Amino acid sequence: MHVRVLGSAAGGGFPQWNCACPCCSEARSGRGRASPRTQDSVAVSADGDAWFLLNASPDILTQINRTFPLQPRSVRRSPIRAVALSNGDIDHILGLFSLRESHPFVLYSTPAVRRGLAERNAIFRTLERSPDQIIHKPLELGRPAPLTGPDGEETGLTLTALPAPGKLPIHLAADSRPSLEDNVGLLITDERRGQTLAYFSSTSALAPIQPYLRGASAVLFDGTFWSSDELPRLGISTARAEDMAHLPVGGPLGSLAALSESGVRALTFTHINNTNPMLLEGSPERLLVERAGFRVAYDGMVVDL
Ligand code: MLT
Ligand code: MN
Ligand code: ZN
Repeated sequence: MHVRVLGSAAGGGFPQWNCACPCCSEARSGRGRASPRTQDSVAVSADGDAWFLLNASPDILTQINRTFPLQPRSVRRSPIRAVALSNGDIDHILGLFSLRESHPFVLYSTPAVRRGLAERNAIFRTLERSPDQIIHKPLELGRPAPLTGPDGEETGLTLTALPAPGKLPIHLAADSRPSLEDNVGLLITDERRGQTLAYFSSTSALAPIQPYLRGASAVLFDGTFWSSDELPRLGISTARAEDMAHLPVGGPLGSLAALSESGVRALTFTHINNTNPMLLEGSPERLLVERAGFRVAYDGMVVDL
């Protein structure tokens, strides 16, 4: 299975448009210690021909334009066959609206994410101009489904959504009831090659999902914040990492300490917020990640399975 990180930053991207925190300033300086990053999305394929996106980032056009395998082969023929959503956050859905040129594709989402997207936003109708423009396929928690394009042909990949502790999208939090379907991890399995990618780019806890990570050939994991008080310390917000449903990477209770002991192989942190000091090459935080045998994702990274 081919796996390519299209975007490795959290919402806002890196550097973020309105921010001159130490990391954003370093990225703008061009000194080479921190590469700019677009927002979280991953592309997977069994054959290198039909491609599937895990989330549709606001930066999707940039991501397609710099990723040759995702570019059209002929007039109005994109190799992108489907998009699978891990939640309904803006950084994961906004790119759908850049795919509105009547190109049929399948949209995999849990029923809760679908309702938040399609039933509460008139703008979504631009993706439903004809009945076959978007084919909604519901993701049932824990139930593997064949990952297909709009023709329904087998692709050799299987998709499973697993509940991950998370939260509702900000724009729905005030008037929706939280559900286990709001935030999921996605397992993509290539049965023939015996490979599994576990993609958990947002989670507030490790224990409930750890069993899924252990069996995976490669893991892409929530690297949003280094520390709980990262935003308050920079005076950006009073919200701690936990308030935003992201388990911090660093510290005694962070994911790095727990994952180092866990037997999880080939783990890469992604969905990295622009304030996270592990973005800086050579920083103490980056060295801690690397010494544990893990990696920090960058745009264009090919994930080996
Ligand atoms: C998150 O990852 O917590 C969200 O993308 C935040 C947001 O929607 O701004
Ligand atoms: Mn996000
Ligand atoms: Zn910043």
